[in-house]
Amino acid sequence: MMSENHAATTKDRSSVRSLLRLWPYVRPVRTRLFSAALVAIVASCLGLVFPLILKWMVDGPVTDRDPGGVWLGALLLLLLGIVEAVLFGFRRWLVARPLSSVEAAMRADLYRHLQRLPVAFHDRWPSGQLLSRATTDLMLLRMFLAFPLTFLLVNVTTILAGFVILLLQDWSLGVVLLAPVVPLVILCSLFETRYSLVARRAQDQVGDLTTVVEEGVLGIRIIKGFGRHRSQALAFRVLARRLRTTELDKARLLAGIWALIMTIPELAIGAALVLGTVQVADGGLSAGTLVAFLSTALALRWPVESMGFLLAMSQESATATERFFEVMDVPEEAEPEPSAAQATSAASAARTGETVALTKAAGGGPDGGPAPDTGGGLRFEGVSFRYPDADADSPPVLSGIDLHIRPGETMALVGATGSGKTTLTALVPRLHEVTSGRITLDGEDIAGIPRPRLRELVSVAFEEPTLFSASVAENVLMGAADADEEALSRALEVAQAGFVAGLPQGVRTEVGEQGLSLSGGQRQRLALARAVVGRPRFLVLDDPLSALDVHTEALVEAALRQVLRETTALVVAHRPSTVMLADRVALISRGRIAAVGTHQELLRASEEYAWLMSGAQPDVNSGPGVESEPGVESEAVEETVR
Ligand SMILES: Nc1ncnc2c1ncn2[C@@H]1O[C@H](COP(=O)(O)OP(=O)(O)OP(=O)(O)O)[C@@H](O)[C@H]1O
Ligand SMILES: [Mg+2]
Repeated sequence: MMSENHAATTKDRSSVRSLLRLWPYVRPVRTRLFSAALVAIVASCLGLVFPLILKWMVDGPVTDRDPGGVWLGALLLLLLGIVEAVLFGFRRWLVARPLSSVEAAMRADLYRHLQRLPVAFHDRWPSGQLLSRATTDLMLLRMFLAFPLTFLLVNVTTILAGFVILLLQDWSLGVVLLAPVVPLVILCSLFETRYSLVARRAQDQVGDLTTVVEEGVLGIRIIKGFGRHRSQALAFRVLARRLRTTELDKARLLAGIWALIMTIPELAIGAALVLGTVQVADGGLSAGTLVAFLSTALALRWPVESMGFLLAMSQESATATERFFEVMDVPEEAEPEPSAAQATSAASAARTGETVALTKAAGGGPDGGPAPDTGGGLRFEGVSFRYPDADADSPPVLSGIDLHIRPGETMALVGATGSGKTTLTALVPRLHEVTSGRITLDGEDIAGIPRPRLRELVSVAFEEPTLFSASVAENVLMGAADADEEALSRALEVAQAGFVAGLPQGVRTEVGEQGLSLSGGQRQRLALARAVVGRPRFLVLDDPLSALDVHTEALVEAALRQVLRETTALVVAHRPSTVMLADRVALISRGRIAAVGTHQELLRASEEYAWLMSGAQPDVNSGPGVESEPGVESEAVEETVR
């Protein structure tokens, strides 16, 4: 009968270790939690006093036929009952608030961590898995701290105390009740191992199911457009059924262990009853002692029986903890080592001094002189890149990239689809880390620039304009922490986002998923406004105008030209009109820079470029190739092709 407390202490070591990792979160509320456990232990042990009062009543007033004594006993029992109830209520009150704060703290930590994990992590992990960890698993943990954790402790103490009382009253009957301990310990540990496997499977399947639901909601237009409800529903049903099977396995295991935990002690109590009755008949035992003995045994029934599901819940919580820390243990984006950070913080202090200070910090350029051609601007030096989850023997997405965008220059990046343009642009704000080579901003290696400052220096707008559930103004001002109203209206003007004025509440209109839906071109213009609002020193635009009609595009380009004049920019372009914004063009072909030069030069020199720009077959008689000759870049004439 007592086996369970054993099972509790000999619990699978690794689950205990998982659960111990919760300590830093529990620490702040430890006083409350421990006092609550103490209160619960007192309340639970009070229950063991009932049989003793009963014994006194049976052997005393009842035998002596003294009604006054019986009334007194009854009154005592009533009082005890009330005290027990009040104590349990008090315990609940003690833990409720602190535990929800533990859950909130863990959730906040997880969210913060998710924001700081590298993009490569998010490429790899399905969002449903992350969602389910942030919701279901954390809720399980709060419940665990509130209930099973306390009651494992309470029950073990109560059972131990109960057995001491039992043995003191009649040791031979006590031994009869203790007999089933051995088989129960063995059964419980077997159960633990199997249950932990099933629990883990179930929680992972909840994550998969969440992913399908999420994709179904986000992709609702595609699903409807292609009439895929049925196959989508089928995919969902398959997963749901799989989860159901796992849950049934869980229930079956639980039912089995519960049946054993309930039956075996019940048999022991039956045996003790028979033995005890015989002893009372022989006169070896008082009736009161037998009553007290049996009611103590019965009072211990609930603590023993609840062990089954308490253990199950603890096991699930251990799994939830594991799943939580699986995400938390993934290292965040590494920050540059102190020495490099120091050099850059010097530059950071002089940021208002702009180019000169930055060049100095990088050790290049004579004091006060104009930025030297070699050091400044945005420079790729022998950059290669392979996605972290790609096969080791697959060709890199980018290789041997040498590219120099001079300070104040705008460089267009042109290439066939899939040639690596988006990948190249993502390297500049360090959304991905270069595999080899380096990228410098005004001579400073970006690997040595603290991320917050790097992302202040570099502004980006991607192909897929993402808006958040917030107002237009908030969405745009995300691009700069300290921008004001004036900067906002300037940015909206550059992006030709005049449509904003026509929205129900102007710039205060809520957009994004929960708000007003905007057209693709409108979103793109807001994303562009976000990129330029902070007047960044470096601007990286990935095909920012693709969704605009030619007239709007022309207007945006005219306004954008002003911004580009003040910054160093890399602009991915598919259309000749966007290329016209740039001083020079780099042609990227299968992950390599094939040619650099002005639009006209490349039109003449590169077949691929001419083909990309016109859609027509290239002129076969084009002159000696600029192709594969990055050297041409230094000689590029400031010829404008407008
Ligand atoms: N997260 C990723 N993980 C692995 N491979 C990727 C990832 N993103 C892109 N790729 C691969 O890298 C290559 C280059 O992709 P990239 O998005 O840079 O092309 P792109 O030049 O921007 O094309 P487009 O003009 O269509 O936007 C492609 O072959 C693509 O399959
Ligand atoms: Mg792209």
